[in-house]
Amino acid sequence: MKHLPKETIDQVVQGFDIVEVISEFVSLTKAGERLKGLCPFHSEKTPSFTVSPQKQLFYCFGCGAGGDIITFLMKFENCSFVEAVEFLAQRKGIQLPDENGMVPQDHKRKEKEAIMQVNELAARYYHDLLMKSATGKSAQRYLESRRVNHETVTEFCLGWSSDSGKNLLHFLRKKNISLKEAQDAGLASLRQGQHQGQHQGQDEGYDRFRGRIIFPIYNQDGRIIALGGRKIADESFGPKYLNSSETLVYSKSNSLYGLYQARQFIRTSGYAIVVEGYMDFLSLYQAGIKNAIATLGTSLTLGQVKLLERYTKKAVFIYDGDQAGISAMLRGLDIFEKQGVDVRIVMLPGGHDPDSFIRQYGPLELNKRIDQGTPAVEFLINQAIQRNGISTVEGKVRATREILAILSKVFDTLVRMEYVQQVAKLLDIREEIILDELHHKVQESRQPMPGIRQRAQGAPMPKGVQGKKESVSVLDATQVAERMLLGLICRGDVPMEDVIEKSILDNDFQSEPMKQIAKEVFSLWRERGRIRPEELIFALKDEKLKGVISGFLFEEVDHGDISKEFHDCVAKIKSRDLIKKLQYLHDEIKSKPHNDPQINVLLKEYSEIKKKIMIS
Ligand code: UTP
Ligand code: MN
Repeated sequence: MKHLPKETIDQVVQGFDIVEVISEFVSLTKAGERLKGLCPFHSEKTPSFTVSPQKQLFYCFGCGAGGDIITFLMKFENCSFVEAVEFLAQRKGIQLPDENGMVPQDHKRKEKEAIMQVNELAARYYHDLLMKSATGKSAQRYLESRRVNHETVTEFCLGWSSDSGKNLLHFLRKKNISLKEAQDAGLASLRQGQHQGQHQGQDEGYDRFRGRIIFPIYNQDGRIIALGGRKIADESFGPKYLNSSETLVYSKSNSLYGLYQARQFIRTSGYAIVVEGYMDFLSLYQAGIKNAIATLGTSLTLGQVKLLERYTKKAVFIYDGDQAGISAMLRGLDIFEKQGVDVRIVMLPGGHDPDSFIRQYGPLELNKRIDQGTPAVEFLINQAIQRNGISTVEGKVRATREILAILSKVFDTLVRMEYVQQVAKLLDIREEIILDELHHKVQESRQPMPGIRQRAQGAPMPKGVQGKKESVSVLDATQVAERMLLGLICRGDVPMEDVIEKSILDNDFQSEPMKQIAKEVFSLWRERGRIRPEELIFALKDEKLKGVISGFLFEEVDHGDISKEFHDCVAKIKSRDLIKKLQYLHDEIKSKPHNDPQINVLLKEYSEIKKKIMIS
């Protein structure tokens, strides 16, 4: 990782006001000495996100996110410390030195920048053409017919490329941008001059987009990296949709349409809705369902999943139910399973796509269906059964084969076993037979199993996998208890003597990042016999940890409840041993082959301990 000298960081950060920077992303209103707004890091209806100009810190009472200006940017943009500093540096026009202390003369970067600038000029040009030109009228009528309103046109900078095929190049030339540069930006093509009155072999440039509605494609920083175009007359030449050709800054398989505008809504809602088309995305967004992205007709690639993962580990796919969509989904299942992304599927009825569905049934109805999305594996299993039918032997065999293929892609052994049980019932086949077949299949297809893989926090479990879900929520409870207890300590609500009297020690804190904070708290206590927040913040190296401590100080606690809160925390933390045992069993079960007879014994013990914990 790049290392930035402290002076450089100070030089960059100095002069920035946390309120100003955060205000660009979150709308804040004054509340006494502080400012409040809706938290960009979780979903809420009443503001609990607080910024203190005095402390130059932020804190959310809802989700506990907190820290300084850099922490905010790191969290909001999901970027590294250095990237956050770079972000601020760029604003100030400061070039940060590279690893060797050199200011980079990055040609690639310049080239990329040039391409984005051409794209931005073009998007603006096409937008103006839509809004102001005579030929734009027909495009405006088309957008009206599709119920795209003015606000959407503006926010997404939609445009219109007239039929001429030369307009953009003319415009760019006036801006001193050559044909070559327009080509590099993926917006023009070269055709050998074969036209009458032209010299043989003379190349001629053409606009890539003719007679199309233009949809600028933004990267996650809000830069325009490409354009998409939809023809407005069915009978005109070329495919219905056309995108810029791939360039240094744009590759279709690494872009998601709408991510830039939707990312904050994805973050706060906790999931992303995945649709296929530009119009589907815009329709949802305009109807107030803003946490969506569009894949632009391809099945989701690893690159796109990774992009999305920066904001959420949970995706709801809306499919219009054609067969192609489902087979693509099946191919993609590996990616999601490997990345630990929780995927649900919503199928729309009767040839509707999300856009037409919203138009006919309204956003409330769509939301309802989104809430009822089926976990991907369950969905695919049902599909396999429906498609093949299981009333005949042949159908059943085919369905079983398909289902085995699906199950072999399920990463988590416990989850897989739950499905095996369900499938055995559905197909009326003995569990052992399925397990046996599956075992072979998994052996065939799998590279060495990675270690324990954590499921995304808060991601819902498929129905019928309740056991795991509960154990996760119990783990969460101790995590919360650890946090609360450290809060009590840091604010001085509970003296350390009391904590130690309950025989709670640093190694009782096991969740990150409380573990690290506790370590520091206890060592400060041993060293100095007192706990002072400012000393603690100073002693902690990690920005995130500093943020947590500042959060503790922002919290206002109802003092009547302190003793009860303290005792609750202690009790929860003490139940840890049981949870450890649970984790141990979980890992044991996972490490065994599916047909190991011991698994049943272990599962039984697992569920008994789970019960005990739920009662305590
Ligand atoms: P669809 O054919 O489902 O169209 O393509 P749509 O999104 O419903 O479009 P409208 O409602 O007719 O305007 C889905 C997506 O696939 C890509 C586009 O990104 C489109 O939004 N696509 C489709 C292409 O890239 N090229 C095409 O020729 C067609
Ligand atoms: Mn459509």
